[in-house]
Amino acid sequence: MNGLTQLLGWVDDRFPLTKLWKEHLSEYYAPKNFNFWYFFGSLALLVLVIQILTGIFLTMNYKPDAAVAFASVEYIMRDVSGGWIIRYMHTTGASAFFVVVYLHMFRGLIYGSYRKPRELIWIFGMLIYLALMAEGFFGYLLPWGQMSFWGAQVIVNLFNAIPVIGPDLSVWIRGDYVISDATLNRFFAFHVIAIPFVLAGLVVAHIIALHEVGSNNPDGVEIKKHKDPVTHIPLDGIPFHPYYTVKDIVGVVVFLMVFFGIVFFAPEFGGYFIEDNNFIPADPFKTPPHIAPVWYFTPFYAILRAVPSFAGTQVWGVLAMGAAVVVLFFLPWLDKGQVKSIRYRGPIYKYALTAFIISFIGLGYLGVQPVTPLFTLLAQILSAVYFGFFFLMPWYTKMDNAKCKPEPERVTG
Ligand code: HEM
Repeated sequence: MNGLTQLLGWVDDRFPLTKLWKEHLSEYYAPKNFNFWYFFGSLALLVLVIQILTGIFLTMNYKPDAAVAFASVEYIMRDVSGGWIIRYMHTTGASAFFVVVYLHMFRGLIYGSYRKPRELIWIFGMLIYLALMAEGFFGYLLPWGQMSFWGAQVIVNLFNAIPVIGPDLSVWIRGDYVISDATLNRFFAFHVIAIPFVLAGLVVAHIIALHEVGSNNPDGVEIKKHKDPVTHIPLDGIPFHPYYTVKDIVGVVVFLMVFFGIVFFAPEFGGYFIEDNNFIPADPFKTPPHIAPVWYFTPFYAILRAVPSFAGTQVWGVLAMGAAVVVLFFLPWLDKGQVKSIRYRGPIYKYALTAFIISFIGLGYLGVQPVTPLFTLLAQILSAVYFGFFFLMPWYTKMDNAKCKPEPERVTG
């Protein structure tokens, strides 16, 4: 026995290191037919690590004080050595997080990964998504630019629409009557400590739940149904390590090429990743002519604006916006399809999903445009399509069952 094995034995007697390695990597059997869509879970993990690491280094020079916050970011960009790349990695990482997570969720929709027995994986995923939105929102105030200030002002003012307690609630959230130094301090605390903590915990829960039931796959068949009678290993399973660790490295390499392409050549990404107005320090006396949230929030913002205010209150718009996110939690119970994967579903689900994706992207586009009567009408139609996808799902997935193809017993590759 060499020294290293001896050390491992010593650790294993006190901490289940080898056991954990086996359970979650070398003897975690994943379906052998994972495809492109299965890259995004590990990429989401990678982006989480990038955000935490770059965030730590940003915090070393950033100052959460309304008088100097903007200048401290400029200092990071111009004077701190390597500061610019750390900041651009963090801003690009924020958008990359949402790109990766939206693709990860889309995979869930095409292969029915949220269906029984994976409901809790989905729910943890949705909680992660909420935490991610909160993280993006709190972080956006920190550079204390015009868009930081006015974006936060618009979103916190939405709470005013809540009957009775609304106005007091928004003062409580801000810690002041307007977005101020007190708001910046608390948003900093949430962005740097509270939410990342919650996020990390939820990701662990997400993966524990996944490893309890096992991964779904592009065929939507359960590989645990067919096990080797002697070894009890799923016949369609392969060990996660080394097979999928190697496959995921390919995804990581391609992702990092695109990621650093953006960091080096287009970090503002045409005003979508860092908005033009955020190069101007926050000015409470000068409202920018056009306030729009960052791209990843715009589908929900478009739904908010699509609902007209009744009797001077925006409460219905705010409720619709909230409902647009909350309804996703119920997906596992709304879907009555006989099969999970889109490969074997009938045509209705395929049309419904296509309409949903068009509505989501369309709303995202409308959310960054100024309000016009035509755009408002379009946003109303697309919002109806968005909600129709969910509310009509129990009905159309049942109808679709008549046209489903038979699901294979074993994975087809
Ligand atoms: C920080 C964000 C997230 C991380 C790090 C993460 C990580 C992962 C990983 C590593 C996997 C296994 C590999 C894979 O299937 O791609 C996975 C699976 C899964 N995730 Fe996530 N995830 C995140 C967010 C989400 C969100 C927002 C949802 C949905 C609301 C979600 C739903 C799922 C589902 C349903 C599976 C099982 C997929 C299957 O077996 O087919 N995840 N996640």
